[in-house]
Amino acid sequence: MKIIGLCASPRGKKSSTMSLVKQGLLGSEKKGAKTEFINLCKKEIKFCTGCGVCYKKGKCVHKDDFKDILVAILESDGIILGSPNYINSVSAQMKVFLDRLADSIHCQRFNGKYGFSVSTAGGSNSGLVCDYLNNTLLILGANTVGKINIDIGANPDGFSDVKDEAFLMGEKLFDAIEKKETWPEQEMLHTEMRERMKYIITLNKDEWQSEYDYWKKQGWL
Ligand SMILES: Cc1cc2nc3c(=O)[nH]c(=O)nc-3n(C[C@H](O)[C@H](O)[C@H](O)COP(=O)(O)O)c2cc1C
Repeated sequence: MKIIGLCASPRGKKSSTMSLVKQGLLGSEKKGAKTEFINLCKKEIKFCTGCGVCYKKGKCVHKDDFKDILVAILESDGIILGSPNYINSVSAQMKVFLDRLADSIHCQRFNGKYGFSVSTAGGSNSGLVCDYLNNTLLILGANTVGKINIDIGANPDGFSDVKDEAFLMGEKLFDAIEKKETWPEQEMLHTEMRERMKYIITLNKDEWQSEYDYWKKQGWL
């Protein structure tokens, strides 16, 4: 089993969010998973231009680090996403990365994978950031096992407990993957997404050849 952790705090070793992502990875490692950590802020990831070439050809016009990161994710069974709260949202580095996944959403490429999200905030709304990240995992087709977040200013002594929780969440992620756990609410969401994507892929089949071919290959059409 392989679990990948992606973090988008630019603060390097000083990042609280990064330490929570790494705790999650340690939890999964203890159970026996292989792990990989990627600091998105150290990667070159260009803005999505919305050109739609990925829908048609299955590859992006940009030459940068995104492709290797996507390959590493697709080879993984589990994904931990981490971002600090920047103005009640994810950091820009995380958003630039997520925008490059539009074609993966159309193709539901994270189908069968599991994940969870972590976030820290100075004052508030770290939970909101996790909800956004978990929702992104869901619309990509993955199941989510929970979230780990802390508003540090409101809970200055709570960080070591939250680190322990992140470790346990890493173990929970391992178990969910091993047991191929499912949850009715998430299954319903996946079914809805599959229907919506099927509709737009079919509607645009002459233009989005690569995505249409992918869906056919999966036996979803
Ligand atoms: C550009 C920027 C925007 C921020 N916006 C918020 C915010 O809206 N709410 C909040 O509670 N904290 C905010 N913070 C504080 C960070 O969320 C907080 O320090 C976080 O723990 C940093 O995580 P890190 O240590 O992983 O980098 C912001 C910090 C920066 C640099």
